[in-house]
Amino acid sequence: MNFYDSERMTDLLKPHGYELDNTAEDADLIVLNTCHIREKAVEKTYSELGRIRKQINLRKEKTGKKSIVAVAGCVAQAQGKEIMKRSPWVDIVVGPQSYQNLPELIAKVDPIKKNKHINIDFPTIPKFDQLENQFFDRGPSAFLTIQEGCDKFCTFCVVPYTRGAEYSRPIKSIIDEAKKLIDGGAKEITLLGQNVNAWNGSGYDKSVWGLGKLINELAKIKELESIRYTTSHPLDMDLELLEAHRDIKKLMPYLHLPIQSGSNNILKLMNRKHTALEYIKVIEKVRYYKPEIAISGDFIIGFPGETNKDHQATIDLISEIKYSQAYSFKYSIRPGTPAGAFYDHVGESIKNSRLQEVQEILRAQQMEFNKKFVNSTLKVLVLRNGKKKGQYLGRSPYNQSIYFNSEHTDLIGSTVDIDITDAFQNSLTGIIIQNKSI
Ligand code: 5AD
Ligand code: SF4
Repeated sequence: MNFYDSERMTDLLKPHGYELDNTAEDADLIVLNTCHIREKAVEKTYSELGRIRKQINLRKEKTGKKSIVAVAGCVAQAQGKEIMKRSPWVDIVVGPQSYQNLPELIAKVDPIKKNKHINIDFPTIPKFDQLENQFFDRGPSAFLTIQEGCDKFCTFCVVPYTRGAEYSRPIKSIIDEAKKLIDGGAKEITLLGQNVNAWNGSGYDKSVWGLGKLINELAKIKELESIRYTTSHPLDMDLELLEAHRDIKKLMPYLHLPIQSGSNNILKLMNRKHTALEYIKVIEKVRYYKPEIAISGDFIIGFPGETNKDHQATIDLISEIKYSQAYSFKYSIRPGTPAGAFYDHVGESIKNSRLQEVQEILRAQQMEFNKKFVNSTLKVLVLRNGKKKGQYLGRSPYNQSIYFNSEHTDLIGSTVDIDITDAFQNSLTGIIIQNKSI
């Protein structure tokens, strides 16, 4: 979602004369978009701000020009005043629900007075209604935020505090944006939300629609070839969405459905509101509607109170589900969250060894999943050039990275058939089947 927000900020600033630069060395404006989900991400904000300070000082010495520095995103939301105190070279702090105000805030910056501008409001008019409706340079695969915030309040998570309460964009504004992205060359759209399958926006008939119905509507746009969505919550996988997986060819066979832990005790402490068995049943249902679907997930390792038995339950659940790929993180205390105040935190070395065990089994499952495709043909959306000459990178329906070579120079944005020859941990390689369409 930060990626999407960064793109929207770029769109927003282009009409004000700003162009994207690859480095910050000679930038008039530096916007640091930040993540607060784990402590490590927050540390990165401050180390990056240190680097930025050096760059802007060097630029000032060399050219006499002063750069404007803005910090956006969830660290800005949570630690606005602290950022200004710890990093006085920052001019603007803007939260994820108020970055539509960036142009005005930039206009107010006075290089001589060194005044500071903080805007971390949760506005009553949603930012989507205030953002200008212009989109630039997205390439074949585009993100589209349809839902933001979260009302689930998992005890470890900052999202309900930094992104705010759940909000679903109405269908019209989503379809309008999708059409603009497609006009700009997007062939694939990934619908985004912290709780994307909880999307319940106002439909064309003003009744409340669910994600399945929205995907149905999007699929009617002829030029759109593929639809994805992320991230989902197990309790919001409704029948309409399952039927969409069965019936809509454009909806890709991939589902990111985090459970976080395989232990019922831990799930309860996490306030996940479901058991491990309920999650397994949801996955069974999904696989009934779309047998070949790739399942992905997230795991938090070493949540407060996690015993060896709880950890084993996570390992058992992973073994049972068989993920195509999944993310795992050591539990990280987030200030202000209920779990931050729990007393029985797990020691670092136990967290490390449990994480290693979980990652080992997830890596093996990913390898096994990837290997299944060797000697088969996959439809691949070509996203960009690879690092080597003549190499392209694309994405399979199952969300795998696919590398192949071709002498054609204009394949980006097309969908090609690839005979898969080799499987690796994080990618597949193959040979393009030359057909008439290219
Ligand atoms: N510590 C570790 N991982 C976390 N996540 C969210 N909060 C925390 C935390 N405090 C992980 C969850 C979530 C993903 C986006 O980040 O697994 O699904
Ligand atoms: Fe955070 Fe997801 Fe739980 Fe919401 S459902 S509180 S975003 S982990």
